[in-house]
Amino acid sequence: MEKPLLVYFFSGTGNARNVAHWFTGVAQEMSITNETIDIAKVDRKNIQPLPPGSMVGFVSPTHGFNYPPAMMYFIFRFPRSRGNSAFLMNTRAGMKLSKWFLPGLSGLALWLSALVLLFKGYRIVGLRSVDLPSNWISFHPGLKENVVKSIYEHCKGVTVKFATKILSGKKVYTAFRDIIQDLLISPVSIGYFFVGRFILAKSFYATNACDKCDLCINNCPVKAILTVDNRPFWSYRCESCMRCMNDCPKRAIETAHGYIIGIMCLLNMGIMIWFWQWVSGFINIPEHNGWAQTGVTLSGWVLTFAVMVVSYRIFHYLLRIPVIRQLFYYTSFTKYKFWRRYKPSRKMVAGI
Ligand SMILES: Cc1cc2nc3c(=O)[nH]c(=O)nc-3n(C[C@H](O)[C@H](O)[C@H](O)COP(=O)(O)O)c2cc1C
Ligand code: SF4
Ligand code: SF4
Repeated sequence: MEKPLLVYFFSGTGNARNVAHWFTGVAQEMSITNETIDIAKVDRKNIQPLPPGSMVGFVSPTHGFNYPPAMMYFIFRFPRSRGNSAFLMNTRAGMKLSKWFLPGLSGLALWLSALVLLFKGYRIVGLRSVDLPSNWISFHPGLKENVVKSIYEHCKGVTVKFATKILSGKKVYTAFRDIIQDLLISPVSIGYFFVGRFILAKSFYATNACDKCDLCINNCPVKAILTVDNRPFWSYRCESCMRCMNDCPKRAIETAHGYIIGIMCLLNMGIMIWFWQWVSGFINIPEHNGWAQTGVTLSGWVLTFAVMVVSYRIFHYLLRIPVIRQLFYYTSFTKYKFWRRYKPSRKMVAGI
């Protein structure tokens, strides 16, 4: 067989990429021909079917208790099996408290993709989460370097053990331990997919420190950053993978917490109240009619989305005005020094 093992990965800040390389590193040691492929660098719509009998793996971060859409769509479009086996891995938001490693939460990440692959005729031989350091620095400060290093060493061992078993022909379904909590949080996965991720994509902006080097534009794995008014502008393609924010050489990309909090207050205390009053002035929504209630909730979401689109454009425009720019800058927690960036994972892959 020419290529018995193919490992596809998607990665924002390097965690999933490292896991993919650790896995193929084991294959290398076992003299198994392998290839590690970044899905951001291939024509995702024209993937060739696998040679019969070969194994394929998918490694991706977890975003909003699911695989990010780029990986989900890739798996949806992936060719049908020709007698192939497959394994799935997700990297999650690991933390460390004293000497304890704390896990993240997968939600639907592995289950949905495993189901799709099963329908395509694959034999699922492995399902495993790896709790690498959380990179979600829009939410919390980046972890300290020594913590990152310690989590990395722990997770490399976990991955090598998993890879050794899978490549020796064993089946490993560690993810089944989490299935109950994963199913319980699945409604949040759905909410994130339809609403949350769009709000997050619209929380980035470039400050005056930006020297227009275009690194963020060129390196974005889904080509989500445009240039509008001569400044980076985040489009809805953004998967909030955090790469641009962590890699900007000028530390010029911030999460606009002040703007997001402001717009959420405006939506919940003003626009939504007005919307409900306006709707109930036209139609009488029966309280116990589930369909009517769902219809109104969906309309609320559509309105939220529309407000976000318009307000982000206005926000981007207002950044031209120095006093307003300063206001948003000082209300972005990511601006403060203690709010570190998440970088070290890229350096650590060199050691594999
Ligand atoms: C937008 C976003 C959403 C996330 N959602 C989750 C989640 O639902 N569960 C979890 O355990 N980790 C979550 N994380 C953490 C990442 O999945 C985790 O840090 C991952 O290892 C990053 O991999 P990467 O470096 O390959 O991008 C999220 C991170 C981001 C940026
Ligand atoms: S990487 Fe930073 S400095 Fe370069 S264009 Fe993007 S925001 Fe500006
Ligand atoms: S714009 Fe930034 S956060 Fe969004 S997908 Fe691209 S690199 Fe990731």
